[in-house]
Amino acid sequence: MLSTNQNKRHIILIGYRGTGKSTIGSLLKKKLGLPLFDSDREIEKTEKRSIPEIFKESGEDKFRQLEEKCILNLCSTINPIVISTGGGAVLSAKNREILKDKGFVFLLSADEKTIYDRISNDSNRPSLTDLSLKDEIRSVLEFRMPLYKECMDFEISTIKKSPEEICNSILDQLNNYLPALKKNRK
Ligand code: S3P
Repeated sequence: MLSTNQNKRHIILIGYRGTGKSTIGSLLKKKLGLPLFDSDREIEKTEKRSIPEIFKESGEDKFRQLEEKCILNLCSTINPIVISTGGGAVLSAKNREILKDKGFVFLLSADEKTIYDRISNDSNRPSLTDLSLKDEIRSVLEFRMPLYKECMDFEISTIKKSPEEICNSILDQLNNYLPALKKNRK
């Protein structure tokens, strides 16, 4: 159930790897004329190293600390922005709380096979477990799904839909709650 508190001002994308957060974030930025921030890219900029390097050199726990700090900073921005989060951002209870408090949170979802097809050739995503990629997706998704659901305001399936269609579904949902956005829609 959507909570419409007065603090909500950002448009926030959550969801597993390969569900289209970056693509949809870029399109939302274009359509709404709002700045886009991708938490992974922000962490890489501050750390001056890539996500796989951070995982390898400092471990996942360190990455999660950096991610928490980054999400807090982004959510504290006064003016509305689009925030694309890393797939594991919802692991932190603090993140879940602040994301939901400060923004309209869209869970982008896809089935395991679609996710596998989208990410299996990407070396920029460090393993999260010792499992094969297929098993990892199944097991991590199962674990995270309740956390995504706890944090989201709306769920948008990204299967067999163009980025344009996905983006329009998001904007349609938003227009119900933020009439001012209508004016900026391109
Ligand atoms: C992660 C997802 C990645 C990135 C890091 C960890 C995860 O972001 O934050 O590799 O735990 O699912 P994307 O969802 O943008 O790939």
